[in-house]
Amino acid sequence: MIELTVNGETHELDADPGMPLLWALRDHLGLTGTKYGCGAALCGACTVHVDGRPRRSCVTTLRVAAGKDIRTIEGLQGPVAKAVQGSWERLNVVQCGYCQSGQIMAAVSLLEGNPRPGPAEIDDAMSGNLCRCATYARIRDAIGKAAEQLAAGEPG
Ligand code: FES
Ligand code: FES
Repeated sequence: MIELTVNGETHELDADPGMPLLWALRDHLGLTGTKYGCGAALCGACTVHVDGRPRRSCVTTLRVAAGKDIRTIEGLQGPVAKAVQGSWERLNVVQCGYCQSGQIMAAVSLLEGNPRPGPAEIDDAMSGNLCRCATYARIRDAIGKAAEQLAAGEPG
């Protein structure tokens, strides 16, 4: 049995410890907001937070994830998440949407660690998250706006 704590809830899974966390999230726990893109840590579609840091769930095994605090797009909360999601909506960032939960997880992690990132820091933090619809410029703007809003203490 593997014990996984996801979005504050602990689950006991009868699964192979070598299985990717992504499969457990989607197929065992029904948390389908986290997407499968490449399966090889190359696209960022599967990004979740593990102990507060962004991680590619397609290459994170259950063995590694067990006992850690895992957060998915479904469990995002707090002022930074609210500001990012609000800013995404206002700037109409999303096109097809497939990459976007991974983008948002990466953006929230960035702003939680660095509330006022410069353009180069944004590019660096987001460089592993690919978007086939090329929404990169809007993503960058939305992160900047969310940072401004948080600095001004405005609600999301
Ligand atoms: S599906 Fe995990 S990085 Fe692409
Ligand atoms: S919005 Fe379509 S892949 Fe990013």
